[in-house]
Amino acid sequence: MSNPSGPTSNPADSLRDALPRYQQQIESALDRLLPPASTIPGKLHEAMRYSVLGGGKRLRPTLVYATGEALGLKAADLDGPACAVELIHAYSLVHDDLPAMDDDDLRRGKPSCHKAYDEATAILVGDALQALAFRSVAEGPAGQAGSDARLKMIASLGIAAGSRGMVGGQAMDLEAEGKDLNIAQLEDLHIHKTGALIRASVMLGALCHAGHHQAQLERLDRYAKCIGLAFQIQDDILDVEGTTEELGKASGADSRLLKATYPGLLGLSEAKRHAREMTDRALESLAGFGQEADCLRGIAHYIIERRN
Ligand code: IPE
Ligand code: IPE
Ligand code: MG
Ligand code: MG
Ligand code: MG
Repeated sequence: MSNPSGPTSNPADSLRDALPRYQQQIESALDRLLPPASTIPGKLHEAMRYSVLGGGKRLRPTLVYATGEALGLKAADLDGPACAVELIHAYSLVHDDLPAMDDDDLRRGKPSCHKAYDEATAILVGDALQALAFRSVAEGPAGQAGSDARLKMIASLGIAAGSRGMVGGQAMDLEAEGKDLNIAQLEDLHIHKTGALIRASVMLGALCHAGHHQAQLERLDRYAKCIGLAFQIQDDILDVEGTTEELGKASGADSRLLKATYPGLLGLSEAKRHAREMTDRALESLAGFGQEADCLRGIAHYIIERRN
């Protein structure tokens, strides 16, 4: 697994080469998986496709592919879990934008699902995408995973998406509006609402490898926890520093809703320092891997350097 001379290529180059390939792959896999808009009920299927296709950075499927490749698998064989994590994410965005939650009209540079369609449709789109995600892990290509590994994936995704993971984090986020959290509470919120699914993305990629060792899984999990937190800190920073045009979603939305955020609690420069520290820790966790993990290293850098 490890290369004694350490990585010699450049992680940024590695990700730059792989990202368009991964993005293209996930786009066509999702396109095949989502029912055509001509399938009854047409409006629901059209709205599902509207919410999933043609947008987003695709970070979570990229993590599935890059983790699989770090363990010697081919990304082309991992579409089942890759689609699953993106579908859970897309559903979470559709619901996150609803008036009852963050009430945002713009998502991925176009009207949010409930603006383009209506609220009832947006709720149903989220429900249906979540169900399709679990079907995708159960039936889609998943590398060397046998039935036992698939069950583990389904359980991991269920935990990460549910009330002890992402949905729990969303509840904490809403509960925290207008309140002063301390840093431990804020970290807990971020780890749940965003970190859990990012962690599951890496775990699902690893579970596709039949011969994974416990020690490898633990190192990858440490990496994933750190980048998950860094990702939400950067999302909070961009809400302050980015423009609506750059982000494809309304900037300044967090302060409008009195959200609990890292820049709000610590200030921008301390929030940036914290995100960098998480990135360094993520990179340290990959120390036992060689060049095959360069793409994962590139993702860790990208998460805090991105502008959208
Ligand atoms: C936005 O996620 C919501 C958060 C969890 C912070 P992304 O920044 O990954 O959104 P897309 O998929 O690129 O649109
Ligand atoms: C959303 O966090 C997290 C989930 C959807 C699970 P945010 O509310 O910060 O995401 P954006 O900023 O609207 O994309
Ligand atoms: Mg939110
Ligand atoms: Mg939001
Ligand atoms: Mg945000």
